[in-house]
Amino acid sequence: MTRSKKVSEMKSDEIKEAVRDAYSRVAEGTWTADEQTPSCCDAPAQTSSSCCGPQDEVKVTRVNLAEALGYDTEGMPIGATESFAGCGNPVALASLKEGEVVLDLGSGAGLDMFVASKKVGDSGRVIGVDMTPAMIEKAKKNAEDLGITNVEFRFGDIEDIPVEDNSVDVVISNCVINLAPDKGKVFREAYRVLKPGGRVMVSDIVLSKPLPKEVSDEIVTYTGCIGGAILDEEYLQHMCDAGFKDVIITSKAGESLYGAYSAYIAGRKP
Ligand SMILES: C[S@@+](CC[C@H](N)C(=O)[O-])C[C@H]1O[C@@H](n2cnc3c(N)ncnc32)[C@H](O)[C@@H]1O
Repeated sequence: MTRSKKVSEMKSDEIKEAVRDAYSRVAEGTWTADEQTPSCCDAPAQTSSSCCGPQDEVKVTRVNLAEALGYDTEGMPIGATESFAGCGNPVALASLKEGEVVLDLGSGAGLDMFVASKKVGDSGRVIGVDMTPAMIEKAKKNAEDLGITNVEFRFGDIEDIPVEDNSVDVVISNCVINLAPDKGKVFREAYRVLKPGGRVMVSDIVLSKPLPKEVSDEIVTYTGCIGGAILDEEYLQHMCDAGFKDVIITSKAGESLYGAYSAYIAGRKP
C-alpha cells in the first residue's frame, strides 16, 4: 500500500485539493465502506481512523447527527442532510434577526443556510461560500427543491472571501475553519466583510493539547477535521489579532483521545 504524502510536506494548495476531493465525494455520495470517511460528524468523539460506515449508513448517521445537534430536519430535502458534515449548530446560537445578511463560510450542502434563511426572512439574505463545486451544485439543487430564494451560493476560498467589505451582519461557519491552512487569513477576511457591529458565531474543532505529529501528518485525519485543528487559545488569538472583540468559547462538547473537541466560538467587530 502506498502511503500518501505527509501534511507537513504539502503546500497549501495541495492540502486544499485533498480537502476538495474528499468533500466532492461526500457531496456525490461516492464514499465506500472501505474508505475512511472525511467526516467532521465523528471528529469530536473519536479518532481519525473512525468512519461513519458504508455509504447508506453514512447518510443515516449524518441525518441523525443533524437531529442530535438540534436541527429540525422536517421538510428538509434529503440532499441537505445526507451531506451534512458539521460539528455544531451555529445558527441556533447566532440570534439572527429579520432582515440580516448572513455569510456561511464553507456552506457545504446548505443546511445551515436554509435554517438561517427562515430566520432572516424575505428582507434578509444568506450567502454561502464553498470551494467544492459539487457541494455548491448540491446546495443550489437543495435550495430549488425548497423553493428558497433569499440564498446565494458563491464559489470561492474562505481565505479570500468573494464578498464586499462591510456588507454582512453575521458570519457563521460549521466545522470548516479547521480545514483552512491559513486560519489567520480566514479571520481577517471575516472581519473585512462584516459591518461594524457585526458578529461571528462558528462551531469548529479545536484542541486542548497539541496533536501527535503522526496524527496531524495524515491527510485523512486532516480532511476528517482533526489534523488541521489548532489549540483553542491559538484559535482565539487569531480572532483577536484580526480585530474581533469579546472573543469567547461559549460551549464545548465531546473531547477525544487527542484532546480534539467541538466548540462554539463567538466574537464581534467593534
Ligand atoms: C466539514 S464540511 C462542512 C460543510 C457544512 N458547513 C456543514 O456543516 O455541513 C467542510 C466544507 O467546507 C468546504 N471548505 C473547506 N475548506 C474550504 C476553503 N478553504 N474555502 C471554502 N470552502 C472550504 C468544503 O468544500 C466542505 O464543503
